[in-house]
Amino acid sequence: MTNSELLKNTIAQIFANGKGILAMDESTPTIDKRFSVNGIPQNVEMRRNYRELLATTPGLSESIGGAILYDETIRQQTSDGIAMATMLMNSGIIPGIKVDMGAKPLAGFPNEKITEGLDGLRERLVDYNSMGARFAKWRAVITIGDGIPTDACINANSHALARYAALCQEAGLVPIVEPEVLMDGNHSRQRCYDVTEQALKSLFEALYHFRVDLQSIILKPNLVMAGKDSSQKDSIADVAKATVNCFLSSVPAAVPAIAFLSGGQSPEQASQHLNAINKNYKDRLPWIVAFSFARAIQHPCLEAWKGQEAHVEKAQQLLYHRAKLSAAARRGAYKSAMEDHG
Ligand code: G3H
Repeated sequence: MTNSELLKNTIAQIFANGKGILAMDESTPTIDKRFSVNGIPQNVEMRRNYRELLATTPGLSESIGGAILYDETIRQQTSDGIAMATMLMNSGIIPGIKVDMGAKPLAGFPNEKITEGLDGLRERLVDYNSMGARFAKWRAVITIGDGIPTDACINANSHALARYAALCQEAGLVPIVEPEVLMDGNHSRQRCYDVTEQALKSLFEALYHFRVDLQSIILKPNLVMAGKDSSQKDSIADVAKATVNCFLSSVPAAVPAIAFLSGGQSPEQASQHLNAINKNYKDRLPWIVAFSFARAIQHPCLEAWKGQEAHVEKAQQLLYHRAKLSAAARRGAYKSAMEDHG
């Protein structure tokens, strides 16, 4: 198999049979914050227990074709002594890895961020490949506010995403490229549309310049919707329509798959939006439109677990259910009545 066939094959496996991606790659500060909200002790063993709970959920591979791990997790083993990546692979889920080193303040540009992690990335990708990872993730963060985002911030992040993607393809890992326009703020849906369109156009220009094979990437974007503090109330149909229009004007048809992040929407909202896009626009979409949710799949599970062994089974049932509803939304077959059967 050539490298290019290998990458395409990985993408086909991740999204086979209507499946999507579970993002379980929260950095340590982020997962500790979520643990603290739920009264769960914040230490390496609890993080391992939680990630094992997720990875060993019975039936998860019916809806999940790929799971993104964090550096700490890919080096950990289940309580039976099986490497976490092997455990996933054995259950039919392709392991992936978050490889960026986080979004840091962009010097000279107050309130804007640049994602770091390119130095030494070629060597790290070789290591992750040997640990079983077949795809990678890099998240860029774009903030909407007074006078921001600047062109400089958007273009610097596109440049980094493109250099990361080229290195991943060289190493035989599919790059998930994630230019996340945050939901934070009181901006309108139209403002989100404009910024998302600019970010995507800048990203695809950079990917072209850096000779990234568009047929061997996964795009992980935000939906086009008003900021979470906006007084504008978006309907599900408004969000689906704006998102489809924005993406048709800025994402080349060569891209095989778009996997949306959930970005702080409730699990129900994330399912409803994805469902509306797939149900109402299927014939116009040249890409697979799927999900790569963290919070929108994990939230009910984490709340139920509370860090206690006695709650593992219930927590896994909730994770299974949320993954199943996300996959139904990918097929345009989600109905709110399905929410009751968790
Ligand atoms: O990179 C972002 C995460 O993998 C997706 O997280 O679905 O909670 O926004 P989220």
